[in-house]
Amino acid sequence: MSNLWKVKADNFINEKESIMRTGNMFQISNGYMGYRGTLDEFGSEQLVGITLAGIFDQVGDAWREPINAPNGAYTKLVVDGISVSALKTEIISHTQQISLSNALFERDTLFAVNNKQVQVKSKRFLSAETPNLMVVEYSFSTNVDAEISVNTGIDYNVWDLNGPHLVDIEANKSNNMLTVIAKTHELGKKLAVAELIDYAEGDEQHLISNNLNLRLISIKAKAGNTYTFYKYVAVVKQGDPFKGSKKNAAIELVSVALQKGFSSNFEAHNAQWAKKWEKCDVKIEGDDEAQLALRYSIFQLLMVAPVKGSANSIPARALSGQVYKGAIFWDTEMFMFPFFVYTYPEVAIELLKYRINTLDGARRKAASEGIGYRGAFYAWESQETGDDACTYFNIGDPHTGRDLRTHFRDKQIHISGDVAVAMWEYFKLTTDDSLLRNGGAEVILECARFYYSYAYYKKDKDRYELLDVIGPDEYHERVNNNIFTNKIASETFRVALDAVNYLKENFASDLDALLAKIEIANEIPLFQEAFEKLYLPQPDKETGVIEQFDAYYKLEDATVEDVKSRVIHPNEYLGAGQGVAVQTQVIKQADAIMMLNLFKEHYSHEVKKANWEFYEPRTEHGSSLSACAYALVAADIGKSEWAYKYFLKTAKLDLEAKYKVYVGTIFMGGSHPAANGGAWMATIFGFAGVKAYSNKVSINPKLYDKWKSLSFNLSYKGDNFAIKITPDETTVQSLGSNIASHKFVLGEKEFVCDPGRKIETKY
Ligand code: BGC
Repeated sequence: MSNLWKVKADNFINEKESIMRTGNMFQISNGYMGYRGTLDEFGSEQLVGITLAGIFDQVGDAWREPINAPNGAYTKLVVDGISVSALKTEIISHTQQISLSNALFERDTLFAVNNKQVQVKSKRFLSAETPNLMVVEYSFSTNVDAEISVNTGIDYNVWDLNGPHLVDIEANKSNNMLTVIAKTHELGKKLAVAELIDYAEGDEQHLISNNLNLRLISIKAKAGNTYTFYKYVAVVKQGDPFKGSKKNAAIELVSVALQKGFSSNFEAHNAQWAKKWEKCDVKIEGDDEAQLALRYSIFQLLMVAPVKGSANSIPARALSGQVYKGAIFWDTEMFMFPFFVYTYPEVAIELLKYRINTLDGARRKAASEGIGYRGAFYAWESQETGDDACTYFNIGDPHTGRDLRTHFRDKQIHISGDVAVAMWEYFKLTTDDSLLRNGGAEVILECARFYYSYAYYKKDKDRYELLDVIGPDEYHERVNNNIFTNKIASETFRVALDAVNYLKENFASDLDALLAKIEIANEIPLFQEAFEKLYLPQPDKETGVIEQFDAYYKLEDATVEDVKSRVIHPNEYLGAGQGVAVQTQVIKQADAIMMLNLFKEHYSHEVKKANWEFYEPRTEHGSSLSACAYALVAADIGKSEWAYKYFLKTAKLDLEAKYKVYVGTIFMGGSHPAANGGAWMATIFGFAGVKAYSNKVSINPKLYDKWKSLSFNLSYKGDNFAIKITPDETTVQSLGSNIASHKFVLGEKEFVCDPGRKIETKY
């Protein structure tokens, strides 16, 4: 397999910061849990983290965050009484790698222990077939005979940012099975980890000490022999679909896994991964750098796709740890969801079910924020109930150590529209109306109701306005009529009306039941009025630029460099009350440009160009969500080099792991699935120029010069297509298994693509 399917490090840098970044880069995940890319012998100080999806806990007043599970993969060798670790032992060589084809983590380290050479190799994967299961193959050999103890078991010294989250911990060994059970501190949710091991040779003793539930397996190792251990670890938490106790479920899972053996577990895992790639790989010919970065980005998304039926969503730092409270932001609907809905709609539906399940939380938030609103105001930082985990003082000031009042939670109202628009997009692109009929339409209507309740009607201007908000640009808080916010609210009214019409025509009784349930029938005409009269800031007649919010032009026209030069502390936040960007036109991230990307067909080429040229030099890109929006609009307006530059920036973010890890006093290290989704969008929507509508798919390629071809798959209305774009031709192959004919517009030409048919157009 070529190196475009692997990411590898050839050395080990024994520094805290490097261990943290490597842990992010080499993490693996299966949607149920993530496992950071740390070494077998590492512990909580090296940020070993097995972060679980969908379970949260709070200790005291500290931030509520996801649970990290005890580490059942822990293994350390003791050679002639000397404990071996990459942190202390001399290393002759070290490699670690991750395979993008199947999320397999591998390490290979040659240690010098006294005068002996000891080689440690391990492989681990989180089963893509059995989400609760982790499997490890660990082997070692020495060049001289040695007395070895393999200390392996479950380490329950758990790394937490705001813990400890696990209480009433009990460690046990019974019938060769190691277990650790615990409860969460806040809600008493149960958790169990079980570990079983398979090996050929050695005498085993059991020890519980220093929060380690350990097997000590002694072996008189012969020079040149390889000794191999297979570990099967299961994590089960409350809410998982098992009958009986969590402990018994975990025991059962590892017992079955041990019986199947490593190879058979691995084959089942690989088969699942092969299916994922079959749908989702994108091939770029002629540019290995872009290919690897894009594939790594897609890989990150595939790894963290929620488990089927879990109705979990994807946190802003995926499952790479507890950063950002493990919370779900607009990142998911606006930056990750497009990838899934265009390639893997089975996952897209889970993401949206999560929003349906948390609708009550959004209702509670609407009712309790500010002057009290109606409808659904989704959490800025959403956890399992949909109540907002974002605090009113969400960033620490490194100068004073005090927390700064931020209004992300109470004023960033575009979140509800982001959810509503994604809900409709799913229906439009899949024609699957099950979601709409089972909560989706209710979400959309409640979001429209929220905007109606938030909006002000200006009688003198005969229009609705949205005052006192934050747009995506978080450096400017409490502004009026932010273009992104107003546009997404306007679209929310539109999709609410469309949803009502669709249900009226097709499921009239469902609609009646819904309107009665949420008592909203009288408000539908108001949504129509609000849609018609909501103020949308317009492009300036002369310049074409849309003012990001009222009176933005009155702010100081400083450069990004000017603003940065005013910073006193390197981790200082540029926004909030006194941030150095607040009084200037320097923005944190794509705002008007994100809007122009989302609604690109509503604006002319000239307007998009004028805005891109105006806002690009004013954008600090203080968020990983920014670069992709600039890449997308740059591709759209034919600024190919800029599109490529911003594409690479977003695609390489996690692969290079050079991002900033502190904002204010807050640790932000971890992966960036929104940027990963942005890399896919920049490629498919940007360079391939794909846009799907309810009645057609249009493909308007803007292939980057260096690329010889771009090939990918699309899912549209339940059918699948293989697409290839070269500098002189676009080909669309409708798969033979497809059911319906669909309209494609390639450049200017319109085609109907029947099942099994290939259409091509030359330029
Ligand atoms: C960005 C938000 C984003 C959040 C999580 C912030 O820095 O400004 O737009 O949702 O990070 O990624």
